[in-house]
Amino acid sequence: MQAKLVKAGAQARKSAYAPYSKFNVGAAVLTDDGRIYTGCNVENASYPLTCCAERVAVYKAVSEGARNIIAVAVIVPGGGTPCGGCRQVLNEFNPDMLVLYGDEAGNLTSSSKLTTLLPDAFGPHNLK
Ligand code: THU
Repeated sequence: MQAKLVKAGAQARKSAYAPYSKFNVGAAVLTDDGRIYTGCNVENASYPLTCCAERVAVYKAVSEGARNIIAVAVIVPGGGTPCGGCRQVLNEFNPDMLVLYGDEAGNLTSSSKLTTLLPDAFGPHNLK
């Protein structure tokens, strides 16, 4: 399933709309019911309106009714990691999420935990 998730992220990356940065990113999230939702970054001529690939994938999943995301695969050129804002959005839907990294060809290159990327996160528990 991990390999499949990374491949889905690499495939989504091909749809990236990044005419300004030319930095194409792909992502895929796996929900607890086994579904995969993909995303790519979508830039805008009004630069701050850009949405990262990870967030597109999360919002697609949530808008389809998903709530628990168990893993995310990200394909960032040069092996980058999710930005801080995306870490926070991912945290909302499972702080224990597995984070997979893949290359542009869709090969799994490494993995991490969201808790490592965003320790001591502010999240839903803070509002209870
Ligand atoms: N980007 C992502 O899609 N995900 C990240 O985690 C980091 C940055 C996108 C946003 C923008 O379109 C481009 O990469 C350059 O920042």
